[in-house]
Amino acid sequence: MSLRQFLKELGCIAGGTALLAATPWLKSCTPEKLSEAAAGGGVARIGLIGTGSRGQYHIHNLLKVPFARIVALCDDYPVNLEAAAALVPDAKRYTDYRRLLEDPEVDGVIIATPLGLHAQMTLDSLSAGKHTFCEKAMALTMDECKAVYDAYRQSDRALYYCMQRMYDPKYVKAFQMIGSGLIGDVVGMRCHWFRNADWRRPVPSPELERRINWRLYRESSAGLMTELASHQLEVCTIVTGKMPTQVAGFGDIVYWKDGREVYDSVSLTYRFEDGRNITYESLISNKFNGMEEQILGKLGTMDLSKGVYYFEEDDTTYGVRRLLDQLKTGVFAAVPTAGPSWRPELRESHVPHAVMEKSTGWVSGESMIGASNDGSLDIVEAFCQSCLTGEQAENVVEEAYCATILCLMGNLAMDEKRVVTLPDAYKIPYMKF
Ligand SMILES: NC(=O)c1ccc[n+]([C@@H]2O[C@H](COP(=O)([O-])OP(=O)(O)OC[C@H]3O[C@@H](n4cnc5c(N)ncnc54)[C@H](O)[C@@H]3O)[C@@H](O)[C@H]2O)c1
Repeated sequence: MSLRQFLKELGCIAGGTALLAATPWLKSCTPEKLSEAAAGGGVARIGLIGTGSRGQYHIHNLLKVPFARIVALCDDYPVNLEAAAALVPDAKRYTDYRRLLEDPEVDGVIIATPLGLHAQMTLDSLSAGKHTFCEKAMALTMDECKAVYDAYRQSDRALYYCMQRMYDPKYVKAFQMIGSGLIGDVVGMRCHWFRNADWRRPVPSPELERRINWRLYRESSAGLMTELASHQLEVCTIVTGKMPTQVAGFGDIVYWKDGREVYDSVSLTYRFEDGRNITYESLISNKFNGMEEQILGKLGTMDLSKGVYYFEEDDTTYGVRRLLDQLKTGVFAAVPTAGPSWRPELRESHVPHAVMEKSTGWVSGESMIGASNDGSLDIVEAFCQSCLTGEQAENVVEEAYCATILCLMGNLAMDEKRVVTLPDAYKIPYMKF
């Protein structure tokens, strides 16, 4: 189900309803707002900077947006520029992104370059008067994040970051369910992303190593934290409405000792001022645990990546029956139920409930990330709509800012092997603690 269809079925109207309280960024892209924008007959003229893997993915999505036209492409690596031009032969081609920003025929700019370039390109794009959509994460350093955030606050242009979970229907529905109290008070969060792949790309000649494998080097990448954790930490700040203030953890290069500079294994704990924690782990040399974002509530657990939730029902009957069996078979020498606080904690399995009726894959517990409908098309479409209306989607920049700061705080904690506290200089009014 597309996001628009989903919002239509929920009966969400322009201006927002209670249903959008947990996801206010969607108020600007309801079906009614889209009809209003489309009624003007305008077309969002898009220029794309960075036509590599993600850039070409965005091209495929943009080609599905009826009110968008890709008018310009820019890349300074000819192989990727040509590959993108084959998809959009009529678009102008640039090798210097500043020339694309000077092009008056470009209304909105999509930036899909390595992380180290995001801040400068975003600043330049906003100051050229372009609505701007940048891939996650926001920037390579906390200072850059703050500079971009401040520039955005001064600008009247729309700015988006590609944190597509905010536009993924199954996440949106889960945010709304958590907001309505389905799993009770959120008492903790547990996220991980495990893969078994080296992250390397083949390099045609050695001098291109750092350019093509930019993810592996610190001048251009902040590693697993910004590439993977940023999406998952953002889920945690959205569901709590709060920002953790401390982080501690360890990171290392455990397996891929191939000259890379970023960690291939990270394990961290983020702490909120109210005592709640996010435990976060990522490893790229074992994929057994896959990817999960578990929001732990007093009444149940929501696993957003799988689109399922579980209740904590007190399965006393089952527990007592199991205890009797164990007493009969001699597992316990003495009856362990003497104390008044005894509760059976034995349970065969939790029953999964689907977040979306039409979701697939949840019974077997498969992750649904990478499924064709992960919100990436919807967020690009929302950006194109903003290019026509000038309307900024609420919270999108702020959430990207919070997520990126958390990732960079995590890297600092791991690099310096200490507890890192969020510095006052990087606090913004949006943050609640
Ligand atoms: N939101 C998501 O789920 C998601 C998924 C994948 C990638 N990404 C992000 O997308 C971005 C790009 O990742 P990718 O995998 O496509 O990388 P990539 O290396 O395949 O593509 C990057 C492109 O930028 C170009 N480039 C580099 N410097 C440039 C410059 N000065 N001017 C113009 N072009 C320049 C490169 O030549 C390359 O074609 C990264 O920020 C990454 O984190 C996001």
